[in-house]
Amino acid sequence: MSFNRISAAQAAQYVKDGFNVGLSGFTPAGTPKAVTHEIGLMAHELHEQGKPFQISLFTGASTGDSADGILSREHALKFRAPYTTNKDFRTAVNAGEIAYNDINLSQMAQELRYGFYGKLDLGIIEAFDVSDDGKIWVTAGVGIAPTVARLADKLIIELNAAHARCAKGLHDIFELQDPPYRREVPVYQPSDHCGKDYIQVDPKKIIGIVDVNIPDEARGFTAPDETTMQIGHNVAQFLISDLKRGIIPSTFLPLQSGVGNVANAVLGALGEDPSVPAFQMYTEVIQDSVINLMREGHCKFGSSSSLSVSNETLQGIYDDMDFFKDKLVLRPTEISNSPEIARRLGLIAMNTALEADIYGNVNSTHVCGTKMMNGVGGSCDFTRNAFISIFSCPSTAKGGKISAIVPMCTHVDHNEHSVKVLITEQGIADLRGKSPAQRAKCIIENCVHPDYKQLMWDYLKIAEKGQTSHALQKAFALHQALAEKGDMHLAEF
Ligand code: COA
Repeated sequence: MSFNRISAAQAAQYVKDGFNVGLSGFTPAGTPKAVTHEIGLMAHELHEQGKPFQISLFTGASTGDSADGILSREHALKFRAPYTTNKDFRTAVNAGEIAYNDINLSQMAQELRYGFYGKLDLGIIEAFDVSDDGKIWVTAGVGIAPTVARLADKLIIELNAAHARCAKGLHDIFELQDPPYRREVPVYQPSDHCGKDYIQVDPKKIIGIVDVNIPDEARGFTAPDETTMQIGHNVAQFLISDLKRGIIPSTFLPLQSGVGNVANAVLGALGEDPSVPAFQMYTEVIQDSVINLMREGHCKFGSSSSLSVSNETLQGIYDDMDFFKDKLVLRPTEISNSPEIARRLGLIAMNTALEADIYGNVNSTHVCGTKMMNGVGGSCDFTRNAFISIFSCPSTAKGGKISAIVPMCTHVDHNEHSVKVLITEQGIADLRGKSPAQRAKCIIENCVHPDYKQLMWDYLKIAEKGQTSHALQKAFALHQALAEKGDMHLAEF
């Protein structure tokens, strides 16, 4: 069957007000760019004519500016799930303009299948190849692409020549059955494949192919500084100590690593430490640092939902496909983030906190309890089910005016029952086997910045005794001082 070749602007015309639209990809990697951009331009025109136009958008994770960015600026998003990192989206969400459902990434595909959001009108998939009989080879990110491709009434394929050298065989596409028919996922090692390297659809669903040549909208990272390097060093020290004590088996365990500057620096530090054995990764994003570690032999294998790397690094991978082909696999998010596999493989999960409290509850999403930063992403998928769940962050933010460790978190994404280790540049708090009172002592002694230690001890003194001691009227005194005087140092109990 020969497909209809259409322009991105023509493809956008298929999208109607109120549509549910699903995209392939995970982060800007693998996410379509041209058609979503045109949908943004179309929204602008329609709004100028006084006509309504808003869609609900479902993805694997964050997208680039050509999706979340332009669609937010053009007020074209009514509803969005499950994760984004875009600044304009964040502004619109925090102004109450977009309904944002920040759900665990492993659940997005199944919630679409369960029918929680109604029917999917259109899917837009970025691919590097499509066959006449409906086989689609996606590019550098998978996300929820297999589910979008199967559920959507109609499909548009963005055939991106920038990924023409993406290798067949790199992907492992497997879609879960829904209860009561779900079986185990047959992945027993990070490198196991359990599906096919392409998505099969009925070719009649493909209403058009849009030929593009657009590089990924990769996000840059801040180079590691003294603080993030010290955090990385502390994480490495913790893992080596557990390895020496025989808690982590001598064969080591696969690592999962979160997103952002801190996570990137932690991985870099692990690679540089000769006592950390060469490791495998079972994670949702492979960032630049992992590719460097693979080239140096520190990372043996990476299973992920995307190659969320700079364009230079991505082209380097394509150039060296013979080297990388048996060291990487890209999977749908419900497999890369599967709670079942995280627990079976015994992952060492390493994610980042915005703030943590003295009892080990972690807030990764809400600045001062109200303003959304990005979302939980896949951090809950891994944290709850890992062999060890580590959270790290700098002990202070905004030039020291914010303490990242507070008496009580203003929002909790990961609770005291799942967070096993807290690490800042100040040190390591191993919370395993400790009561709340013991955890509070351990966190204040090891992780809090010296400027804020006395405040934390003072808080404990005035706290009403209980299983988890708190002084509820004063629990947010640091946040109140920040809001009123611009500095948490000025908190008073
Ligand atoms: N209060 C207010 N702002 C804070 C803060 C706090 N307690 N802690 C950090 N910040 C600010 C920083 O100052 C920085 O602001 P800037 O962008 O204006 O410079 C910003 O938050 C990011 O902090 P940074 O230290 O650079 O961290 P990061 O890039 O490593 O990101 C998270 C940290 C928590 C935002 C990020 O990891 C995230 O979104 N995590 C949730 C999703 C997730 O874990 N996914 C992975 C699963 S695999």
